[in-house]
Amino acid sequence: MNWIKKDLIGLENLTKEEIETILKTAVSFKEISSRQVKKVPALRGKTVVNLFFEPSTRTKTSFELAAKRLSADVLSFEVASSSISKGETIVDTAQNIEAMKVDCFIVRHSVAGAPELISRNVSSAVINAGDGCHEHPTQALLDLFTVKENLGKIKGLKISIVGDILHSRVARSNIWGFTKLGAKVFVCGPPPIIPADAEKMGAKITYDIEEAIKDADVIYLLRLQKERQKENFLSSLKEYSYFYGIDENRYKKIKKGAVIMHPGPMNRGVEIKSDIAERENSLILEQVTNGIAVRMAVLYLTIGSRK
Ligand code: CP
Repeated sequence: MNWIKKDLIGLENLTKEEIETILKTAVSFKEISSRQVKKVPALRGKTVVNLFFEPSTRTKTSFELAAKRLSADVLSFEVASSSISKGETIVDTAQNIEAMKVDCFIVRHSVAGAPELISRNVSSAVINAGDGCHEHPTQALLDLFTVKENLGKIKGLKISIVGDILHSRVARSNIWGFTKLGAKVFVCGPPPIIPADAEKMGAKITYDIEEAIKDADVIYLLRLQKERQKENFLSSLKEYSYFYGIDENRYKKIKKGAVIMHPGPMNRGVEIKSDIAERENSLILEQVTNGIAVRMAVLYLTIGSRK
């Protein structure tokens, strides 16, 4: 394998070749989850710690299953009942857990930079499972994997990411990932929640949903992140849904063969009409399935060959 790094903090600092190595490795791991015995010994003897300071359904479960399918031991650290509540810092917490001889931390935190701060203070691998509005690299990797699997390529595709781009770590990681692999990325939403630096990252900004949908190969929907909005950027969810939600009328304008994606959790009836999420061209649950293979690949490449 030619991708051996201590940590995975974001896609911004990965090369196209490194991203492709992870995706190729994930292809070989995908089949394991359809076996009757879903386990291989690749990470036997390794210990992976889930350190989630924010809620999660998909990412936390998926990392745990990925590690277990590679035969690693998994510890899900309970933040609420830990000494963090007595004032212990996240660095002290990580260093104390590391003193028990673990190999990898999977970190989710509401503050951008928290996984990197931990990574600088431990010798174990650190994988970012979503930090504030910064990055969510394994979400973008599983999205790249899902698009490649369904549409056969990434280069040259039009990917339209619609929603709260300003507060979305998923959007940021996806902009880095899709542009590095040669796709044209559009970001779309109301002006207050579209960051100007999206263009510097390589995306094209549009405030017009019709332009975003036109000829898009992938319509990637995001929810409005109320928990990260410090100000009231929008007058109402109803208004957002009216101007930017995918309803029947907009669905009809999507080109034949295009797919709909969403990282979850979805706000049904806001960014997407509920039954559209279940149609044939929706990849939403496939994204979740592929999350296991991609996270197995990331764990394997990160700690599989470390002494
Ligand atoms: N997509 C995603 O990160 O979902 P969770 O918050 O449930 O992990």
